[in-house]
Formats: sequence, structure tokens, C-alpha cells
Amino acid sequence: MQTNSIKTKPFKDQKPGTSGLRKPVKTFQKAHYLENFVQAIFDTLPEKQGAKLALGGDGRYYNREAILTIIHMAAANGIGELMIGKSGILSTPAASHIIRKYELDGGIILSASHNPGGPDKDFGIKFNTPNGGPAAEKITDAIYQKTLEISEYKIAEAQPCNIDKVGEFQYGDLLVRVIDSVVDYSELMQSLFDFNLIRDYLARPDTQILFDAMHAVTGPYAEMIFNDILGCPKNAILRADPLPDFGGGHPDPNLAHAKQLVDTLFADAGPTFGAASDGDGDRNMILGHQCFVTPSDSLAILTANATQIPAYKNGLAGVARSMPTSAAVDKVAEKLNIPCYETPTGWKFFGNLLDAGKITLCGEESFGTGSSHVREKDGLWAVLFWLNLLAVKKQPVSDIVQQHWQQFGRNAYVRHDYEAIENDAANSLVDSLINQLGSLPGKRLGIYDVQYADEFRYEDPIDGSISEHQGIRIGFEDGSRIIYRLSGTGTQGATLRVYLETYTTDDNKLKKDANELLKPLAKISTELAQIEHFTQREQPTVIT
Ligand code: G1P
Ligand code: ZN
Repeated sequence: MQTNSIKTKPFKDQKPGTSGLRKPVKTFQKAHYLENFVQAIFDTLPEKQGAKLALGGDGRYYNREAILTIIHMAAANGIGELMIGKSGILSTPAASHIIRKYELDGGIILSASHNPGGPDKDFGIKFNTPNGGPAAEKITDAIYQKTLEISEYKIAEAQPCNIDKVGEFQYGDLLVRVIDSVVDYSELMQSLFDFNLIRDYLARPDTQILFDAMHAVTGPYAEMIFNDILGCPKNAILRADPLPDFGGGHPDPNLAHAKQLVDTLFADAGPTFGAASDGDGDRNMILGHQCFVTPSDSLAILTANATQIPAYKNGLAGVARSMPTSAAVDKVAEKLNIPCYETPTGWKFFGNLLDAGKITLCGEESFGTGSSHVREKDGLWAVLFWLNLLAVKKQPVSDIVQQHWQQFGRNAYVRHDYEAIENDAANSLVDSLINQLGSLPGKRLGIYDVQYADEFRYEDPIDGSISEHQGIRIGFEDGSRIIYRLSGTGTQGATLRVYLETYTTDDNKLKKDANELLKPLAKISTELAQIEHFTQREQPTVIT
């Protein structure tokens, strides 16, 4: 096998964001663009010679081409083994599991998560470390540094190989193992949850579930778990076949993008339980009949009920949530007398806490929930957790939520996104907010008194590393919060996220719509940041 060194020049825009390098497909198709980044990943490995890596992605447009390029580069770089999902498919949580189960040295995941796919849409690549989780900032910084210095990359000249069949073959000195990750993943799920109980629950005449795979990666996983193992009818899964463009949809499981599912669940005779996951299978949305469970509430409810689930029956070491996620789980942690950590946005910040055994469950408001079983958030895991809980409690989802609020109070929550605004406008808005921070504490805004106003800074309790500028927080005396952040995953201009939260124990407010409860705070948030002035937008693009 001949290997070539190809001369190249750095691209200046290969700094990984919240979750890897995410760009339009067209950017990745530029000569040397993908190769430069992959070479930088290889050159950052502590031990490149003979390294064993997982490789796969969410099946979006350009997945297969990228995988073939990476195989050739791995062969030329002395990588020892690549474990590849059949047809190049690996959901993000399955990739995390594979890395851990087979004790690999890491993995390359090709995904732009919930961003749309297709020739004019997005692609992404990220590196996960031997613990199965997204690389920490010091590693992504090192990869970025390499991309700025790169002058050549190595690639083998060889016939393309067949990744559509499970099996092993040599590629020069590189061993390629094509595996069916669906089997490994479903075995892991069966080790965590009571599948017999769930199967009995699903067989009851009054139970009906609907799962929307959004033409994304979880289709094959859901078919094996829900149809083959748990006995659900075929029509319990919507949009089961993965498509390179997700059928033209936006594979983000939320009220806006999983419309058919939401409409079905909110219809008079709708199913008892509904759920969806995203492009790469790490996000989840949970619905009951005529009931939407916010991701922040979901984390709190799972935490409160964890000991009813086999995997967590001995209790939780602790929990963590990203800073913008509502404080609902904090209330539960307090009652359970377990620690609750607040981390910056992005799953990579949970890794150290999970590895150190400080936390068992964690989650983000952005439809991400997970546990120590892998080092990524896990969409189907969250769905199975809920099904296991429903099988134990035999109550409607809405009753479980209402009872939770009765016991712990309600952290009403919404997020407003202003997408694709001009970068300069977004930066000016943030600068102007930062300038106001010093003068806000003690001020009264509407009916709220400002208690603190700052930029969130995180010191990792395990390795002491510090992450600055992780979002602007305005906290009020009654526990309400407004948070502003610029997205680190968008690919067009900037996305401003405004997170609104208010806490109530008032019985009348437990039944009310969250948007209604948060109206006064929403008004303050737009005025304080002068959103219309800076962005010329009167309304958010998406409300979740
Ligand atoms: C978004 C979410 C964040 C999540 C990330 C990857 O990042 O807000 O919670 O971890 O996607 O799924 P953002 O675009 O806000 O930087
Ligand atoms: Zn995702």
C-alpha cells in the first residue's frame, strides 16, 4: 500500500465549538479541509502508532465520503485499528459505549447533531477520548493549534473498502473492524432497565407509544429495541429510516421540529407516551398525552425517581446540570441530600465529574439527558428510563409531572433563540450587556429585584481547569433568572440564546402555560439586551 504526504496550508477556522467542528458541507468539501482536521486529531493522540479508534457518524450527507478518507489517512498514519459502525453508522451514545466497552483510545464521530443535512446543509466532526466522552477543552485547543501549524498530511492510496458488511479486514497494517453497534447498544440498555416490566406495560391495551426517529440515526436502534425486543408494532416508530438529508427536516427533537409527533400526542385520543431523538441520537424529547416535559423537568423527575430503576436502585452519587438548565434538579438533589454541580454548556464538562464518580445523572435544557453508563447524552436511554418509570408507576405522564411540581415547586422555563444574526450585531449586544452588569445588582426590573449579574466562570472541581465567559447571568431575589449566551454550534452568523426561568409553588400557576408565566421576564430580557435595536428582530426564531 502506497502512502503519500500531501502538502497543505492551515485553515484559520478550524476551532472546535461546543461540540466539535461544525461547518457547512461545502466547507468540508474544500480541498484538504477535512484532511487537515483529521491529521490534527491524529497528531494530538498521545500514542498514534497502533492506536485503536472508533469511527462512524449519523449517516448524514458526506458521512460515507469522510469515512473512506479517514480510513485511508488512518492507514497512512500508523493507526492500528478502526472499529467502524456498519455502513458508517454510529449514534453518538453508541460510539461512546463502543469506545468504553472495547477499551479504545478514542473515536471520531461524524455528525452535526441536530443541524439539517444535505449538500447545502451542515456536517461536523468531533473527537472523543478513551473515557468515551467529547475531548476536553485542553485537547480541542491542542487540535486547533495543530490545524494552525499544519503543512502536510498523510494518506494511503488504496481501493475503497466495503463498510456495509460486518467483518474484519486488513488495510496495510490497519485492521478495520466493521461492527453492528445496534447489538452492543441494545445489550447495554437491557443491562440498565427492566425490559420485562416495560414489555408488559407496553402490551397493556391502554398503553400506546409513538417514537419519532426523525429519519436520523436512531431508526435502526429504535427498531431493534422497540419492535424486536419490546414487541411494539411497526407503526410505533415514525420516520424510522435514516436518510442523508433527514427527509428535508430539521432533526431536532423539539416542539417546533417534531410537529407530527407533537400534534398526534396533543390530539384528543392521542397516545400515552411520545418521544423523539435528534440527528445523532443523543438528544431526547419526552411527551405524554397532551403534555410536554421540559428537559430540565425531565432531569429533575428522573433524579427524584431513579431508585425505582434497576441501574440506579442503590441511589445516585450526585447530579449535574449545565448553567442555563433550570434549577429544578437542584431542589431534588437538596431533598436527596446529594451534590448538584453547575457546569458550562456542553457535554464535555460532565466528563470529569462522571469519571471521578461524583455524579450519576446529568442533563442540559437543550434536550440532553444522560448518566454514567456512557460519556455522552443519550436519547434512547432517556426514553427507556421514562418507559421503565411509567411501567412502575402506571400513571399518565402529566400526573407524574404535576405531582413532582406539587412536591418540589415548578421551575417554569423557556428558551428564545434568535438565529443567524450578524456576528457584529451579536458581539455588540453581548458587549453592551457586559457593560451593564456592574450596575444591575440591587436594581428593580419590572416586578423583579436583581440579586446578581455576572458572566459565568467555571472551575472544574476535578482538574482545576478554568473556563471563562460561559454566559451572562442575571439572577433575581425570587430565584428567577435570565441568561444570555451565543451558540457555539451554529454555522450561519451568530445565534443568541435567551434562557428564562421562574420558580413558583403557587397551585394556580402549576397548570399554566410556561410562556404565559414567563411573559414579564421575557419583556425584561429583550429590553435589557436591546435585542430589537441590535438585531432588528422583533421575535425569536424558535421558542423551545
Ligand atoms: C447546543 C446546546 C448545548 C449542547 C450542544 C450540543 O450548544 O445549547 O446544550 O450541548 O448544542 O448538542 P450551543 O449551540 O448552545 O453552543
Ligand atoms: Zn445531537
